Amino acid sequence: MKAVLTGSGGQLAAAMRATVPEDVQVTWLARADLDVTDAAAVSRHPALNGCDVLINTAAYTAVDAAEDDVDAATAVNELAPGYLAQRCAGEGAHLVHLSTDYVFGPDAPHRPLTPQDATAPDTVYGRTKLAGEHRLRDLDATVLRTAWVYSGNTLPGHRDFVSTMLRLEQTHPELTVVDDQHGCPTYAVDLARAVWQAARERSGGIRHAVGAGQTTWFGLARAVFTEIGADPERIRPVTSAEYPTAARRPEWSVLASDYELPEWRSALSRAVAAKL
Ligand SMILES: NC(=O)c1ccc[n+]([C@@H]2O[C@H](COP(=O)([O-])OP(=O)(O)OC[C@H]3O[C@@H](n4cnc5c(N)ncnc54)[C@H](OP(=O)(O)O)[C@@H]3O)[C@@H](O)[C@H]2O)c1
Repeated sequence: MKAVLTGSGGQLAAAMRATVPEDVQVTWLARADLDVTDAAAVSRHPALNGCDVLINTAAYTAVDAAEDDVDAATAVNELAPGYLAQRCAGEGAHLVHLSTDYVFGPDAPHRPLTPQDATAPDTVYGRTKLAGEHRLRDLDATVLRTAWVYSGNTLPGHRDFVSTMLRLEQTHPELTVVDDQHGCPTYAVDLARAVWQAARERSGGIRHAVGAGQTTWFGLARAVFTEIGADPERIRPVTSAEYPTAARRPEWSVLASDYELPEWRSALSRAVAAKL
């Protein structure tokens, strides 16, 4: 299988590099190689000639900054998937595109959410990602929604929630973490394997891919401390109202996964130990 991956400077892309199946040849395109918002460049980039699958991990992921940067978020999250799908159609290639739990809104029912559940994003990031999904309707594309992605010690220097907790444990005697947002922590390496599976299966439509089980950010933070032998009582729970952010996070981000990813707690152990 001949694959091309866009957005190759990002977190998921790093995990994809670490898990490439033996029979897949990949061309990695970072933003400097291909700006996915440049329709003309997407339409003619030679790396896409004759590819079987295009995996788009490029996204505007700065959730709070997006609130004041709508045009830039729209260009990457909404318009670019359309350009990429158009090029894929010309090549006879399948597009695997990553999306997010943020497409769901504050009224989402408190049970694992399926691709059939109603979307109602409450943030610019969520709205632009949903609009990107809509650009791919009825095309030869699989939309993979994921959530709460982290790499821990697998990707040194990267700033995800788990690596941030590991760093703060060194410097802060006490921490407060929100305990009223629920989700499925997803180890980037496990997600990467699901993406490779999706690239092979070419099912089309919207699918969910998250770590098994659920917790809150507070629960995840305490698990990180426990994992490294630090006292989890050093972390205290707070509400989202006590920790305001520019973009309001969904209270309920628990997705029903269409792929069997490992249970989040054991995945966390591997991420802290930097084991694939
Ligand atoms: N991280 C999460 O918790 C999470 C949760 C749900 C869904 N997702 C989705 O999963 C996917 C991968 O996320 P991630 O964690 O790997 O994000 P990431 O680390 O922010 O990586 C995104 C990459 O996209 C690149 N990019 C941005 N604009 C671009 C452009 N115009 N052309 C080409 N590349 C561009 C960025 O390049 P620069 O490095 O140059 O900025 C970055 O390398 C995204 O679709 C995201 O929406 C992530």
